[in-house]
Amino acid sequence: MKLILLGAPGAGKGTQAEKICEKLSIPTISTGNIIREAMKTGTEMGKKAKEYVEAGKLVPDEVVIGIIKERLAENDCANGFILDGFPRTIPQAEALDAMNFGIDCVLSIEVPDEKIVTRMSGRRVCITCGASYHTEYKKPTKEGVCDQCGAELVLRKDDAPETVLERLNIYHDQTEPLKGYYEKSGKLKTVEGQEEVADTTALVFAALGI
Ligand code: AP5
Repeated sequence: MKLILLGAPGAGKGTQAEKICEKLSIPTISTGNIIREAMKTGTEMGKKAKEYVEAGKLVPDEVVIGIIKERLAENDCANGFILDGFPRTIPQAEALDAMNFGIDCVLSIEVPDEKIVTRMSGRRVCITCGASYHTEYKKPTKEGVCDQCGAELVLRKDDAPETVLERLNIYHDQTEPLKGYYEKSGKLKTVEGQEEVADTTALVFAALGI
């Protein structure tokens, strides 16, 4: 399956991508994770992206399109993939169409803005391996410590409430129009994000027929 996950920042795309990936054994390609890794290791692209990401703005289209083109050419994408966080603008969607991968489905996870801001303030990420937790919904075994690698858990800079509001504005302005774009081609499905992760997963699997 070649799948795009759409949704506001913090709607649960990354969380659901993990579940789909476990079920179908296809890779998740998260442009956010690729960009954060480049920022951490200090590559040229990472240095360029840092000011955009930390201000809650989108990284320029040409940078992200280049990242995706390279990543989708890798062997593990041959049997399908989950795109988490790409495309985020109409030009990105048009560039993806031009790559001719034949996307099967676009699934949008809908969560109201007011819930997003509360959710994001509880997210904690590992400074070393990037694993994601939540102070209420996905607690690590030991508070503030990553279960996977034992490193410290922190609040992402762009998860500060004022930056989340900026990310939400950009989502409504630039990313939400993608729903209309994919509705026209009959590929769009939507699910309402639930309070419990497992309940959302059940709806996601049902929508995808998996
Ligand atoms: P990116 O990392 O893609 O950020 P995002 O889309 O804003 O996504 P998030 O990771 O914040 O949220 P999510 O929907 O994956 O939610 P999650 O599952 O973690 O991008 C970061 C930045 O990179 C962008 O701002 C931009 O600068 C740049 N960038 C990336 N791609 C780009 C592109 N294509 N073009 C331009 N720039 C780009 O869930 C959130 C929290 O809620 C978690 O703590 C989770 O445990 C919890 N949670 C999840 N589901 C539930 C539930 N059902 N109930 C309760 N809690 C839940």
